[in-house]
Amino acid sequence: MRIINNTNLFGKGIVIVFMGVLLIQCSSKGQQENSQKDVNSRQFKPDIDIELTATTKNMQLLPGEQTNVFTYESKLIKGNEESLEKLQGTYLGPIIHVKPGQKIRVRFKNQLPRESIIHWHGLHIPPDMDGHPAYAINKEEEYIYEFKVNNRPGTYWFHPHPHQITGPQVYYGLAGMFIVEEEEPELPSGKYDMPMVLQDRTFDTDNQLVYLKGNRMERMRGFLGNRILVNGDVDRQMEVKKATYRFRFLNGSNSRIYKLAWSDGSDVIAIGTGGGLLEQPVEKDYIMIAPGERVDIWKNFSDYNANKKLKLKSLAFDDGTSMGMGGRMGGRMSNRMQDNQGVENGTEMDLYTFTVTSESGPEKKLPARLSDVEKINTDDAVNTSNPRPFHFSFERMNWVINGETFDMTEVADWEKVKLNTTEIWEFINGGNGGGMGMMEDMMQMPHPVHIHGLQFQIVERDVSGVDASVWRTVKDGFIDKGWQDTFLLMPGMKVQVIMRFEDFTGKYIYHCHNLEHEDMGMMRNYEVIE
Ligand code: C2O
Ligand code: CU
Repeated sequence: MRIINNTNLFGKGIVIVFMGVLLIQCSSKGQQENSQKDVNSRQFKPDIDIELTATTKNMQLLPGEQTNVFTYESKLIKGNEESLEKLQGTYLGPIIHVKPGQKIRVRFKNQLPRESIIHWHGLHIPPDMDGHPAYAINKEEEYIYEFKVNNRPGTYWFHPHPHQITGPQVYYGLAGMFIVEEEEPELPSGKYDMPMVLQDRTFDTDNQLVYLKGNRMERMRGFLGNRILVNGDVDRQMEVKKATYRFRFLNGSNSRIYKLAWSDGSDVIAIGTGGGLLEQPVEKDYIMIAPGERVDIWKNFSDYNANKKLKLKSLAFDDGTSMGMGGRMGGRMSNRMQDNQGVENGTEMDLYTFTVTSESGPEKKLPARLSDVEKINTDDAVNTSNPRPFHFSFERMNWVINGETFDMTEVADWEKVKLNTTEIWEFINGGNGGGMGMMEDMMQMPHPVHIHGLQFQIVERDVSGVDASVWRTVKDGFIDKGWQDTFLLMPGMKVQVIMRFEDFTGKYIYHCHNLEHEDMGMMRNYEVIE
């Protein structure tokens, strides 16, 4: 397929970096003017109009010194009060509540020292509304989003997406939930429907957030903190009534993966994934949730005794990370990371404590059927027997996709798709054997794969290439049902997804949602053409 010549690749790499800087500036100006012109056409009549300002702030997160964070401040300009739910005492942005079909305008203002742009993770909206890094705006500039909510009810989210600095901007606090909702009387609602944003952070002795300390190995692995915050709060506990709750889990961490389980061994009941409600509830011993993924969990506390303390844990697992010549034989990368104070991926930890009170609240019966999920038929794909391959691997000391790193405007032939077609893409964690021979898979890590602009369905998860000792520790935690926009691709794994490219043409990106990998260029454009 591709002819890879090492010398050429090295040469090309340097050119891409250099050209990238020029292209960012040219393309962001040109494209931006276009979309902003549309915005001023006044034809768009928003149901909800919100101002979101990315700014810096000091917050009392820990006892003692305040912590300097980034945050989205918000203001409701038009719309129902409930559309904008501001959260207190956290750096997290507001929760934006919308209904299917509503029109929303967001006036994004950048008060950060660096460029930024907002991506609406999971939404099916036009490319210039999606937060492609080419649209990043500088300090004091404004970007106006206007789009209609085309998605199913579900748990989506928003976060920055400027090239090479998404990791730090999310880390310092920029993220928020975007919930598409409609009446679901059989499900818990109001205060029984709760966000649960899982993140890890490291604070220094002055209570300031510590990101990467410049260590290249740490960057290649991705940021791992030494403490967990839930909903931006270090105090990870709450009292719950004897009632049924819906917890909308979002893994908003830069690179940490969680293996969610209840401390009493009760089933973890998933009712929704990244693309909304499942057809039927899925009951599991534990659920894997990788960065960018969401899972809605049903929990009935009615049968617990008052004062019962129930913990939500992340159980121990092996994430399959390895480094060294020829894969895992060279020893675990983690063994060489002892100088890093972050807690390794796969370490068992307590995430949250629920204390059941004696008070009762609404108890719901788990519906046998939750929603309609129309299955995309693999025969509808234009490439049913010939899925497009995407190798996520390590080459030339970098994380790459089919041997390439991100370029602001470049789209390869193998990244062009036709509007109104259905395709199957196969994501492979590992090289295609054409790179630098045995060097190419010398480093392996899990990659959470995210495709912008649409929701897909998982056709098949081939685990025959996954190390058995790794697979054993995670195998029951995958929900390969319903709609998704992000999935976990473990080392050696091959995952086929099916999706339809419709409504919008233009360039979207797809990438690894380990934010350090993304920032290092494990991201590419794909283009929908007429
Ligand atoms: Cu949540 Cu391109 O990212
Ligand atoms: Cu990755």
